[in-house]
Amino acid sequence: MNTEYKILVVDDSDENREMVSELLLAHRFKVDKACNGKEALIKLAATVPDIFLLDVAMPQMGGLELLDKISVKDNAYEAIMMTGNESLNDAKKAMELGAFSYVSKPLQWEEINDHLQRALSLVGVKKERMRHLKALEDEIRKSNKDLQAANQLRASFLSIVAHELRTPITTLMNYLAVLTGPENVEAVNDMKTTCDRLKDLVASLISLADLSSTSIAVRQENTHIPSFVEMLARKFAGKAAENKVAVIIDNLLSESMAAIDPRLLNIALMSLIDNAIKFSKEGGAVHINLKDLPDNGPLSLLISVSDRGCGISERARTHLFESFTQGEEHLTRHFGGLGTGLFLAKRAAEIMGASIEVTSDKGKGSKFTLNIPVPEAACQK
Ligand SMILES: Nc1ncnc2c1ncn2[C@@H]1O[C@H](COP(=O)(O)OP(=O)(O)OP(=O)(O)O)[C@@H](O)[C@H]1O
Ligand SMILES: [Mg+2]
Repeated sequence: MNTEYKILVVDDSDENREMVSELLLAHRFKVDKACNGKEALIKLAATVPDIFLLDVAMPQMGGLELLDKISVKDNAYEAIMMTGNESLNDAKKAMELGAFSYVSKPLQWEEINDHLQRALSLVGVKKERMRHLKALEDEIRKSNKDLQAANQLRASFLSIVAHELRTPITTLMNYLAVLTGPENVEAVNDMKTTCDRLKDLVASLISLADLSSTSIAVRQENTHIPSFVEMLARKFAGKAAENKVAVIIDNLLSESMAAIDPRLLNIALMSLIDNAIKFSKEGGAVHINLKDLPDNGPLSLLISVSDRGCGISERARTHLFESFTQGEEHLTRHFGGLGTGLFLAKRAAEIMGASIEVTSDKGKGSKFTLNIPVPEAACQK
């Protein structure tokens, strides 16, 4: 469709310029005009034509000088020279400077049109190539940005891990130095607590590596849920005692047995219980509530872990389940941790087909609820 293309006619002869322009307009091209090279450059700065139709000899700036400046090879336009017999040599020079072709004056429409259509095909190819290059550049720029963000995240994760590991190692080394002294018992107890902490850190890293895999098989086993949760809570007895927090299990289950993946439920619940104890106030209580829902429709196992601790602000709640994300910096530095617990809990829940909901009041406490669908046939009293 000629109407899509813009031709810039550059000629100092009013008669020739107008005649060519009229012909082009009659064949529905868009047309712009300039009477020498300088004026053509000004027009080029405002809009880029598809084709330059160029006279050779013009005052101020002729066609050859203009050709040299507009660098046809590197742009999505072409130039066709309009030459008289006397300027055939100039036409050859123009071809060396990148002109597409030349047409001889006096101009014949069939001849100009033939050159125009061939030049426009080439312009189409150039535009397509440039679009492709631009898309590639955009993609590379985006990949670089993603890579930078991933690198930044990795750097901040490594710095947190290094910080978390350095503290217990220093403690262990100091205690090793005094192990022969009279305060042995206290030192050994502290070393045990520190080793437990290191063990937890390594367990988090292993879970993180395990759950990062894209295909994880769910292995459901018929499990006595209250015993399973009591066993988990016992693992936190030391930490709960240290923080002076009571852990209470409220069992409202109508069915004690359910088919769940013990490894995944373990990862999810460990993280929720660990947080509830960690962020509780001294003398507080953590409630683990077990319920099943409903009688009509598919059965769901609801396990909620609630505390009356520091709570989570609305702002912090928006990024709560992202990996390596912690809440208020001053609090988390005080409490320690990698910022992976909730990410792991969410990931484990997702793999089980479960969901996690959180409600929290800043300063009053938080409640995390795991909603796990349970296959009906597997449930027994
Ligand atoms: N029960 C809770 N009460 C108050 N804040 C919480 C609670 N649970 C999670 N948070 C907030 O969410 C953040 C992310 O929790 P997450 O378990 O992912 O990391 P973490 O506990 O800081 O470290 P990690 O679990 O790796 O030891 C915490 O740093 C804390 O700010
Ligand atoms: Mg945690």
